[in-house]
Amino acid sequence: MNHINYIQKTEEHVVIIEINRPNHLNALNSELILELEKSLDEISHQKEIRSVIITGTGDKAFVAGADIKEFKDFGIKQGLELSQVGKQKLFNKIAFFNKPVIAAINGYALGGGLELALSAHIRIATENAQLGLPECSLGLIPGYGGTQRLPRIIGLGLAKEMILTGKMIKANEAHAIGLVNHIFPKEELIEKTIKIAKSFNTKSPESLCAAIKSINHSFNKDGDSIESHEFSKLFKTTNFKEGVSAFLEKRKPIFNK
Ligand code: CAA
Repeated sequence: MNHINYIQKTEEHVVIIEINRPNHLNALNSELILELEKSLDEISHQKEIRSVIITGTGDKAFVAGADIKEFKDFGIKQGLELSQVGKQKLFNKIAFFNKPVIAAINGYALGGGLELALSAHIRIATENAQLGLPECSLGLIPGYGGTQRLPRIIGLGLAKEMILTGKMIKANEAHAIGLVNHIFPKEELIEKTIKIAKSFNTKSPESLCAAIKSINHSFNKDGDSIESHEFSKLFKTTNFKEGVSAFLEKRKPIFNK
């Protein structure tokens, strides 16, 4: 089954991955997670693609969560596997992806759907988007990294309120608390998101990859040391030589892919 559309914008060096299960509000089932994993693995090696946009089809949902119908009869062992495999195959893969990943939230981003957006490096939303982690209402907690990533983005107090109440918040509130970086009208979402992606694409790809890795460790005790190592490794790249030469020669850098 094909649950994703893959739209390559060759000139812009951007790929748009559209999650396509509109009858289930794009809920993530295991097949879809595998398809996304495969697609990301391929993109990670494609030098001509410099950034990735993940969005949902239709104008109702980005992703309304993990597929509840799929896990309704699970026990402890399967629950653990659901969480661990999902993180390994998709959520952590996005968080540590070697190119910038932008979540373009075009409607509901709930549960695993918001966790997917939290794994991305930045989040952009339409005016009608609604975001929440309703897992406690199902007798669960967020299992795809939501309890870890949400507090890092919006702070402990607001994250606890969102998770413990399970309430949905609208795009303007999400923007006010820094959960989404920008809000655009729905008809402009992709065009404006591509514009942001293009501004990443003018930078050295090795720098972007190293910055993502270092920032991801900013709350870990070894974050400082990871930053120094990532920083030092860049000195051997031709893109570093180009960036510095361009500055000294008062011109724009032309980075290798
Ligand atoms: N899983 C499976 N199916 C889902 C789904 C989900 N997360 N969300 C929506 N759907 C399905 C509905 O069952 C429905 O299917 P049928 O037509 O076959 O009944 C279809 O999508 C349309 O949904 P609704 O009729 O419910 O649409 P609505 O407009 O009335 O409500 C909604 C929209 C408020 C988003 C509601 O669908 C909803 O609350 N969805 C569930 C949200 C949720 O709890 N997400 C968290 C999942 S748990 C999780 O993600 C665990 C984790 O961290 C790992």
